Amino acid sequence: MNSNLTQLLQLAQETARKAGMIIIEQEGGSSVSLKAENNLVTEADLAAQDLITRTIRDHFPKHSIIAEEEDLRAKSGEPDLWIIDPLDGTNNFAHTIPHFSISIAYARSGKVQAGVIYDPSRDEMFSASLAGGAFLNEKPIQVSKARSINEAIVATGFYYDRGEMMRNTLTSIEKLFEANVHGIRRFGSAALDLCWVACGRFDAYFEYKISIWDFAAGMLIVNEAGGECSDHFGNQLNLDSAGVAVSNGRLHKEFLDIVAYG
Ligand code: IPD
Ligand code: CA
Ligand code: CA
Repeated sequence: MNSNLTQLLQLAQETARKAGMIIIEQEGGSSVSLKAENNLVTEADLAAQDLITRTIRDHFPKHSIIAEEEDLRAKSGEPDLWIIDPLDGTNNFAHTIPHFSISIAYARSGKVQAGVIYDPSRDEMFSASLAGGAFLNEKPIQVSKARSINEAIVATGFYYDRGEMMRNTLTSIEKLFEANVHGIRRFGSAALDLCWVACGRFDAYFEYKISIWDFAAGMLIVNEAGGECSDHFGNQLNLDSAGVAVSNGRLHKEFLDIVAYG
Protein backbone atom coordinates (compact mmCIF):
# COMPACT_ATOMS: atom_id res chain seq x y z
CA MET A 1 0.00 0.00 0.00
CA ASN A 2 1.43 3.43 -0.80
CA SER A 3 2.11 5.76 2.13
CA ASN A 4 -0.67 8.20 1.16
CA LEU A 5 -3.25 5.44 1.29
CA THR A 6 -1.85 4.18 4.59
CA GLN A 7 -2.26 7.65 6.09
CA LEU A 8 -5.77 8.00 4.67
CA LEU A 9 -6.79 4.65 6.11
CA GLN A 10 -5.32 5.52 9.48
CA LEU A 11 -7.15 8.85 9.57
CA ALA A 12 -10.41 7.14 8.58
CA GLN A 13 -9.97 4.58 11.39
CA GLU A 14 -9.18 7.21 14.04
CA THR A 15 -12.13 9.33 12.92
CA ALA A 16 -14.56 6.39 12.86
CA ARG A 17 -13.46 5.48 16.39
CA LYS A 18 -14.04 9.05 17.63
CA ALA A 19 -17.44 9.15 15.92
CA GLY A 20 -18.23 5.83 17.63
CA MET A 21 -17.48 7.38 21.04
CA ILE A 22 -19.84 10.29 20.31
CA ILE A 23 -22.58 7.86 19.29
CA ILE A 24 -22.14 5.54 22.28
CA GLU A 25 -22.24 8.53 24.69
CA GLN A 26 -25.68 9.38 23.30
CA GLU A 27 -27.05 5.81 23.38
CA GLY A 28 -30.50 5.82 24.96
CA GLY A 29 -30.67 9.63 25.14
CA SER A 30 -30.36 11.01 21.61
CA SER A 31 -33.36 12.94 20.34
CA VAL A 32 -35.01 11.34 17.31
CA SER A 33 -36.80 12.95 14.38
CA LEU A 34 -38.29 11.64 11.13
CA LYS A 35 -36.65 12.37 7.73
CA ALA A 36 -39.39 10.50 5.91
CA GLU A 37 -41.94 7.87 6.84
CA ASN A 38 -40.17 5.21 8.99
CA ASN A 39 -36.79 6.84 8.26
CA LEU A 40 -35.24 8.23 11.44
CA VAL A 41 -32.40 10.61 12.14
CA THR A 42 -30.98 11.33 15.60
CA GLU A 43 -28.75 13.98 17.13
CA ALA A 44 -26.02 11.32 17.17
CA ASP A 45 -26.15 10.90 13.36
CA LEU A 46 -25.63 14.65 12.99
CA ALA A 47 -22.92 14.95 15.63
CA ALA A 48 -20.95 12.00 14.20
CA GLN A 49 -21.26 13.36 10.69
CA ASP A 50 -20.13 16.81 11.81
CA LEU A 51 -16.99 15.34 13.38
CA ILE A 52 -16.15 13.22 10.32
CA THR A 53 -16.74 15.91 7.67
CA ARG A 54 -14.84 18.56 9.69
CA THR A 55 -11.87 16.20 10.08
CA ILE A 56 -11.78 15.41 6.35
CA ARG A 57 -12.16 19.06 5.35
CA ASP A 58 -9.34 20.06 7.73
CA HIS A 59 -6.97 17.46 6.26
CA PHE A 60 -8.09 17.51 2.61
CA PRO A 61 -9.77 20.84 1.80
CA LYS A 62 -9.90 20.03 -1.93
CA HIS A 63 -11.53 16.61 -1.61
CA SER A 64 -15.26 16.11 -2.28
CA ILE A 65 -17.66 14.55 0.21
CA ILE A 66 -20.89 12.59 0.01
CA ALA A 67 -22.39 12.27 3.49
CA GLU A 68 -25.86 10.92 4.18
CA GLU A 69 -27.16 13.78 6.28
CA GLU A 70 -25.69 16.59 4.13
CA ASP A 71 -27.84 18.19 1.44
CA LEU A 72 -25.03 19.12 -0.93
CA ARG A 73 -23.77 15.98 -2.63
CA ALA A 74 -20.77 15.43 -4.87
CA LYS A 75 -20.86 13.01 -7.82
CA SER A 76 -19.57 9.44 -7.47
CA GLY A 77 -16.80 9.91 -10.09
CA GLU A 78 -15.01 12.85 -8.42
CA PRO A 79 -11.18 12.57 -8.47
CA ASP A 80 -10.98 12.49 -4.65
CA LEU A 81 -14.18 11.56 -2.88
CA TRP A 82 -15.11 10.57 0.67
CA ILE A 83 -18.37 8.67 1.14
CA ILE A 84 -19.75 8.68 4.65
CA ASP A 85 -22.56 7.06 6.58
CA PRO A 86 -22.08 8.59 10.04
CA LEU A 87 -24.46 6.11 11.69
CA ASP A 88 -25.61 3.05 9.79
CA GLY A 89 -28.39 1.36 11.73
CA THR A 90 -30.11 4.45 13.11
CA ASN A 91 -33.32 2.54 13.71
CA ASN A 92 -31.43 0.06 15.94
CA PHE A 93 -29.65 2.92 17.73
CA ALA A 94 -32.90 4.81 18.35
CA HIS A 95 -34.38 1.63 19.88
CA THR A 96 -31.24 0.95 22.00
CA ILE A 97 -30.33 -2.17 19.99
CA PRO A 98 -26.50 -2.28 20.03
CA HIS A 99 -25.95 -3.05 16.35
CA PHE A 100 -24.91 -0.05 14.26
CA SER A 101 -21.76 1.29 12.63
CA ILE A 102 -19.87 4.17 11.10
CA SER A 103 -18.83 3.78 7.46
CA ILE A 104 -16.13 5.85 5.73
CA ALA A 105 -14.83 5.21 2.20
CA TYR A 106 -12.30 7.04 0.08
CA ALA A 107 -12.67 6.73 -3.73
CA ARG A 108 -10.62 8.01 -6.66
CA SER A 109 -12.51 8.63 -9.91
CA GLY A 110 -15.25 6.16 -9.05
CA LYS A 111 -13.03 3.41 -7.61
CA VAL A 112 -12.94 2.84 -3.84
CA GLN A 113 -9.34 2.81 -2.57
CA ALA A 114 -9.86 2.55 1.18
CA GLY A 115 -12.76 1.67 3.45
CA VAL A 116 -13.40 1.56 7.16
CA ILE A 117 -16.47 0.34 9.05
CA TYR A 118 -16.49 0.56 12.84
CA ASP A 119 -18.91 -1.23 15.16
CA PRO A 120 -18.55 0.68 18.45
CA SER A 121 -20.72 -1.72 20.50
CA ARG A 122 -18.33 -4.64 19.84
CA ASP A 123 -15.23 -2.48 19.30
CA GLU A 124 -14.77 -4.12 15.89
CA MET A 125 -12.88 -2.14 13.26
CA PHE A 126 -13.17 -3.52 9.71
CA SER A 127 -10.85 -2.02 7.12
CA ALA A 128 -9.50 -2.59 3.63
CA SER A 129 -7.41 -0.90 0.98
CA LEU A 130 -7.39 -1.71 -2.71
CA ALA A 131 -5.17 -4.76 -3.33
CA GLY A 132 -4.09 -4.60 0.33
CA GLY A 133 -6.47 -7.15 1.90
CA ALA A 134 -9.27 -6.84 4.44
CA PHE A 135 -8.89 -6.78 8.22
CA LEU A 136 -10.88 -7.00 11.44
CA ASN A 137 -9.03 -5.28 14.29
CA GLU A 138 -5.85 -5.51 12.19
CA LYS A 139 -6.16 -9.30 11.63
CA PRO A 140 -6.72 -10.50 8.03
CA ILE A 141 -10.24 -11.74 7.25
CA GLN A 142 -11.68 -13.99 4.59
CA VAL A 143 -15.13 -14.91 3.36
CA SER A 144 -16.73 -18.23 4.35
CA LYS A 145 -16.17 -21.53 2.59
CA ALA A 146 -19.85 -22.51 2.16
CA ARG A 147 -20.35 -24.02 -1.29
CA SER A 148 -24.07 -23.89 -1.68
CA ILE A 149 -27.13 -21.96 -0.54
CA ASN A 150 -28.23 -24.96 1.51
CA GLU A 151 -25.16 -24.38 3.74
CA ALA A 152 -25.65 -20.62 3.99
CA ILE A 153 -26.81 -17.93 6.40
CA VAL A 154 -28.13 -15.10 4.22
CA ALA A 155 -28.64 -11.54 5.44
CA THR A 156 -31.00 -9.01 3.95
CA GLY A 157 -32.35 -5.52 4.56
CA PHE A 158 -35.64 -3.76 3.98
CA TYR A 159 -35.63 -0.31 2.51
CA TYR A 160 -37.93 2.22 4.16
CA ASP A 161 -40.27 2.00 1.16
CA ARG A 162 -42.82 -0.67 2.06
CA GLY A 163 -44.01 -1.10 -1.57
CA GLU A 164 -42.51 -3.02 -4.49
CA MET A 165 -39.02 -3.43 -2.96
CA MET A 166 -40.51 -4.96 0.15
CA ARG A 167 -42.63 -7.41 -1.86
CA ASN A 168 -39.60 -8.43 -3.97
CA THR A 169 -37.54 -8.93 -0.82
CA LEU A 170 -40.21 -11.13 0.75
CA THR A 171 -40.50 -13.20 -2.45
CA SER A 172 -36.73 -13.77 -2.47
CA ILE A 173 -36.75 -14.76 1.19
CA GLU A 174 -39.42 -17.34 0.41
CA LYS A 175 -37.34 -18.71 -2.48
CA LEU A 176 -34.25 -18.91 -0.24
CA PHE A 177 -36.21 -20.96 2.28
CA GLU A 178 -37.41 -23.20 -0.54
CA ALA A 179 -33.72 -23.67 -1.47
CA ASN A 180 -33.18 -24.90 2.11
CA VAL A 181 -30.99 -22.04 3.36
CA HIS A 182 -29.62 -22.50 6.92
CA GLY A 183 -31.14 -19.17 7.97
CA ILE A 184 -32.11 -15.61 7.07
CA ARG A 185 -31.01 -12.61 9.16
CA ARG A 186 -32.08 -8.94 9.14
CA PHE A 187 -29.85 -7.17 11.66
CA GLY A 188 -30.31 -3.55 10.48
CA SER A 189 -26.91 -2.18 9.44
CA ALA A 190 -26.10 -2.69 5.76
CA ALA A 191 -22.46 -1.73 6.32
CA LEU A 192 -22.09 -4.45 8.99
CA ASP A 193 -24.00 -6.95 6.82
CA LEU A 194 -21.24 -6.49 4.23
CA CYS A 195 -18.47 -6.79 6.84
CA TRP A 196 -20.04 -9.94 8.24
CA VAL A 197 -19.97 -11.49 4.75
CA ALA A 198 -16.32 -10.41 4.50
CA CYS A 199 -15.37 -12.17 7.76
CA GLY A 200 -17.45 -15.28 7.09
CA ARG A 201 -20.24 -14.82 9.67
CA PHE A 202 -22.72 -14.47 6.81
CA ASP A 203 -22.35 -16.31 3.49
CA ALA A 204 -24.37 -13.83 1.43
CA TYR A 205 -26.36 -10.60 1.70
CA PHE A 206 -28.83 -8.83 -0.59
CA GLU A 207 -30.82 -5.63 -0.45
CA TYR A 208 -32.80 -4.15 -3.33
CA LYS A 209 -32.59 -0.44 -2.60
CA ILE A 210 -29.54 0.92 -0.97
CA SER A 211 -27.52 4.15 -1.05
CA ILE A 212 -23.89 4.76 -1.95
CA TRP A 213 -22.95 5.48 1.71
CA ASP A 214 -24.43 2.14 2.83
CA PHE A 215 -22.13 0.02 0.66
CA ALA A 216 -19.10 2.03 -0.59
CA ALA A 217 -16.68 0.93 2.16
CA GLY A 218 -18.26 -2.52 2.60
CA MET A 219 -17.97 -3.37 -1.09
CA LEU A 220 -14.18 -2.94 -0.93
CA ILE A 221 -13.97 -4.91 2.33
CA VAL A 222 -15.92 -7.83 0.79
CA ASN A 223 -13.84 -7.79 -2.41
CA GLU A 224 -10.58 -7.66 -0.48
CA ALA A 225 -11.73 -10.58 1.70
CA GLY A 226 -12.20 -12.71 -1.43
CA GLY A 227 -15.96 -12.25 -1.89
CA GLU A 228 -18.01 -11.27 -4.90
CA CYS A 229 -20.19 -8.16 -5.26
CA SER A 230 -23.05 -7.69 -7.76
CA ASP A 231 -25.95 -5.34 -7.99
CA HIS A 232 -29.45 -6.77 -7.68
CA PHE A 233 -29.54 -7.48 -11.45
CA GLY A 234 -26.34 -9.53 -11.33
CA ASN A 235 -24.06 -6.84 -12.85
CA GLN A 236 -20.76 -6.01 -11.20
CA LEU A 237 -21.37 -3.64 -8.27
CA ASN A 238 -20.19 -0.03 -8.68
CA LEU A 239 -20.75 3.23 -6.83
CA ASP A 240 -23.83 4.06 -8.93
CA SER A 241 -25.57 0.74 -8.25
CA ALA A 242 -28.94 0.89 -6.52
CA GLY A 243 -29.08 -2.59 -4.98
CA VAL A 244 -26.61 -5.25 -3.81
CA ALA A 245 -26.16 -9.04 -3.90
CA VAL A 246 -22.85 -10.08 -2.36
CA SER A 247 -21.50 -13.44 -1.31
CA ASN A 248 -18.43 -15.50 -0.56
CA GLY A 249 -18.10 -16.06 -4.34
CA ARG A 250 -18.40 -19.86 -4.17
CA LEU A 251 -22.20 -19.78 -4.09
CA HIS A 252 -22.62 -16.53 -6.01
CA LYS A 253 -24.21 -17.95 -9.15
CA GLU A 254 -26.71 -20.04 -7.22
CA PHE A 255 -27.45 -17.02 -5.00
CA LEU A 256 -28.01 -14.70 -7.99
CA ASP A 257 -30.27 -17.26 -9.65
CA ILE A 258 -32.52 -16.86 -6.61
CA VAL A 259 -32.27 -13.16 -5.69
CA ALA A 260 -31.43 -11.26 -8.92
CA TYR A 261 -34.28 -9.89 -10.94
CA GLY A 262 -35.02 -7.53 -13.82
C1 IPD B 1 -30.13 1.64 6.79
C2 IPD B 1 -29.53 0.36 7.33
C3 IPD B 1 -30.45 -0.81 7.07
C4 IPD B 1 -30.79 -0.95 5.61
C5 IPD B 1 -31.38 0.36 5.07
C6 IPD B 1 -30.41 1.50 5.32
P1 IPD B 1 -29.47 3.95 8.04
O1 IPD B 1 -29.25 2.72 6.96
O2 IPD B 1 -28.31 0.09 6.71
O3 IPD B 1 -29.87 -2.03 7.46
O4 IPD B 1 -31.73 -1.97 5.47
O5 IPD B 1 -31.56 0.20 3.67
O6 IPD B 1 -30.96 2.70 4.82
O7 IPD B 1 -30.68 4.70 7.59
O8 IPD B 1 -29.63 3.34 9.37
O9 IPD B 1 -28.21 4.71 7.85
CA1 CA C 1 -27.16 3.61 6.08
CA1 CA D 1 -27.16 6.59 8.33
